[in-house]
Amino acid sequence: MSTMLEVSGLTHQYGRGERAHVAVRDLTFTIEAGQLACIVGPSGCGKSTLLRCISGLIPATGGSVRLHGDEVSGVPDDLAVVFQDYSRSLFPWLTVAKNVEFPLRWQQVSKADRRRRAAEVLESVGLAGVGKKYPWQLSGGMQQRVSIARALVSRPALLLMDEPFASVDAQTRGELEDLTRRVQRDLGSTILLVTHDIDESVYLADRVLVLSKSPAAIVADLTIDLPAERDQITTRESEQFVSLRGEVARLLQSPQVQRTGETAPETPAPAGSDAAHGAASADAADSATTDSAKAAAAEAVESPDETAASRS
Ligand SMILES: Nc1ncnc2c1ncn2[C@@H]1O[C@H](COP(=O)(O)OP(=O)(O)OP(=O)(O)O)[C@@H](O)[C@H]1O
Ligand SMILES: [Mg+2]
Repeated sequence: MSTMLEVSGLTHQYGRGERAHVAVRDLTFTIEAGQLACIVGPSGCGKSTLLRCISGLIPATGGSVRLHGDEVSGVPDDLAVVFQDYSRSLFPWLTVAKNVEFPLRWQQVSKADRRRRAAEVLESVGLAGVGKKYPWQLSGGMQQRVSIARALVSRPALLLMDEPFASVDAQTRGELEDLTRRVQRDLGSTILLVTHDIDESVYLADRVLVLSKSPAAIVADLTIDLPAERDQITTRESEQFVSLRGEVARLLQSPQVQRTGETAPETPAPAGSDAAHGAASADAADSATTDSAKAAAAEAVESPDETAASRS
């Protein structure tokens, strides 16, 4: 397996002087090609900041991010992001098909191929036939499928997902989880997904990274060796699943996680139980593809406080 993502000593500080806030400090980890890794951690610990740095939407203030060996400085062409808030990340004035085609506008792809690829990817997320509708004519779950389709259309080397299913109902969430696993397996994608939901992290992932309170440090890196074929009912009932979810829950309540990263140990303590199969480790632009498009897309999706940060 080759290394897809290499995060080394990554630090991000918002603001300066008295207003300075270190959201992420000295994070180091790698993600192998074809892995689906989940990140869990307390609210505000720096998960979104980490994803924004990896995607090049904001610069790291220390350390580095490498995507298949190339240092990230700006949003890489072969990286895509799916955000939680689908209603703000899709363009309401474009049809579903045009939204999905959007990232291909800056690639050497003919109009006919753009249409074909958008139709294919819409079909793969279960939305064949809705290309002519507008996003606001679809349900929330369908809109998030469109976001996933748009992220996948440029065949990104790395897909980042920040709480992608947090705004949909439980049943849709399960469907989107299965969709993500299926698409990842079919396309061999590498995915790094942030979630608040412990069960979701275990159900989805090959690997779960548990972060401490802000500034985040990695306190555990668990290998999830559940069978590749997973099912919302039987997998979640299995002893192995229950044991793994218990392990993640215990870690999240542990003093290591609850203490801030300022004082977290340099080398995380081992996760401890049999269920922790991995050793503890040392740790929208969406899929827009040119700098100007990325900037425009990033502006369209960034949160008000990001806007404030970029002005500061
Ligand atoms: N634009 C910003 N300017 C200043 N501080 C920020 C900005 N964005 C985030 N922060 C701060 O950085 C810390 C980490 O925020 P971040 O959004 O990365 O956390 P998170 O782990 O994603 O939280 P959640 O689980 O609630 O989504 C928080 O204390 C937050 O207040
Ligand atoms: Mg967040």
